[in-house]
Amino acid sequence: MKDAKTVVLGVTGGIAAYKTASLASMLVKNGYDVQVIMTQNATNFINPIVFETLTGHKCLIDTFDRNFEFSVEHVALAKLADVVMIAPATANVIGKLAHGIADDMLTTTVMACRETKKIIAPAMNTEMYLNPVVQDNLRILEGYGYQIIKPAEGYLACGDTGAGKMPEPDVLFEYIYHAIAFEKDMAGKKVLVTAGPTRESIDPVRFISNHSSGKMGYAIAKVCAARGAEVTLVTGPTVIAKPLFAKVIPVTTAKEMFDVVKEEAVQADIVCKAAAVADYRPAHVAEEKVKKSGEEMTLQMEKTDDILKYLGEHKRPGQFLCGFSMETENMVSNSRKKLEKKNLDMVAANNLKDAGAGFKGDTNLVTLITRDEEIQLPLLSKEETANRILDKVLQQLNK
Ligand code: CTP
Repeated sequence: MKDAKTVVLGVTGGIAAYKTASLASMLVKNGYDVQVIMTQNATNFINPIVFETLTGHKCLIDTFDRNFEFSVEHVALAKLADVVMIAPATANVIGKLAHGIADDMLTTTVMACRETKKIIAPAMNTEMYLNPVVQDNLRILEGYGYQIIKPAEGYLACGDTGAGKMPEPDVLFEYIYHAIAFEKDMAGKKVLVTAGPTRESIDPVRFISNHSSGKMGYAIAKVCAARGAEVTLVTGPTVIAKPLFAKVIPVTTAKEMFDVVKEEAVQADIVCKAAAVADYRPAHVAEEKVKKSGEEMTLQMEKTDDILKYLGEHKRPGQFLCGFSMETENMVSNSRKKLEKKNLDMVAANNLKDAGAGFKGDTNLVTLITRDEEIQLPLLSKEETANRILDKVLQQLNK
């Protein structure tokens, strides 16, 4: 078995081809084996040397190109591919693939990929993209099982503004990640994830919140979706990119989160409550801006609903509840108390004082606490931490 997953990147003759270089680089950095096939026209927009340097493989262009690694190139590559993405895909290549024309290295390879997942990122002038012939061809490809990435709208290289822009490399990367990063071992599971901080208003200008970035919850949502689950993400205000393959419901306050989660949790098989919910909110929200007066000011606060406690009290048989706990001392004993008090199946606990743990960074140092176990995970990226949390959730569910 080969170690790395293979991405075959097809590059056709559009100005967006320059963005595909960043995508290739991103894929290589994330451990994928990247094989690039270009059309002859694509070489007018970007030199194959760029891709060859980034991927460490010869870029294939002509049907009769030979790369010493393969014998019958297009068939060998098709067999090797875990996913094929064509980015940018011109109207021409879309038309050819929709109608079975295979007259170059790229189209012959794609034609030889019967089972492999195929993703197309159309990029062209708006009028071309909206042309009924192109739209019909895209529908034909969808019918054959291709996944079509809707082009973004914006200023296009031709000077027009509209639909036709190729999405940025991080978006294309997420499509590939979603397609091949994991086995779909969570298929059929409905997962509800909460993430980010809540914001509690003091007046129209000010609010009380916390330092949660949302990164841990978003990583869980993204990994669950990539493992095949149907994901709903209820998120407080964050500045990070929303996961593409989840139903995202933005909320602001603890009360809003409570109302949405109460409703969404009814269908969920698994709930991961990574959000940092305010425990208290101002008892009165001033309608007008509060003006400064004396040397001191006091805010009267009232308790918010404990969402997770409510979920624990209304847990369906077979439903799995995973809480999160951030502590600065007595992490395990405090977190175990939460497990019991809120009737949870697991708590993912971390200590804000540990290097690499906590809110803002891209890593976490988590201890998984269940009724009869404590498992210390190593310092990992939030994505890998999410993966390990989900492994444990599935293991507990299958007990
Ligand atoms: N939580 C919640 N609703 C709240 C407060 C917390 O659902 N109003 C959830 C969080 O999403 C998290 C877990 O409860 O999954 C732990 O939150 P935390 O605030 O650390 O625990 P508390 O039980 O509130 O205890 P304390 O604030 O004393 O640490």
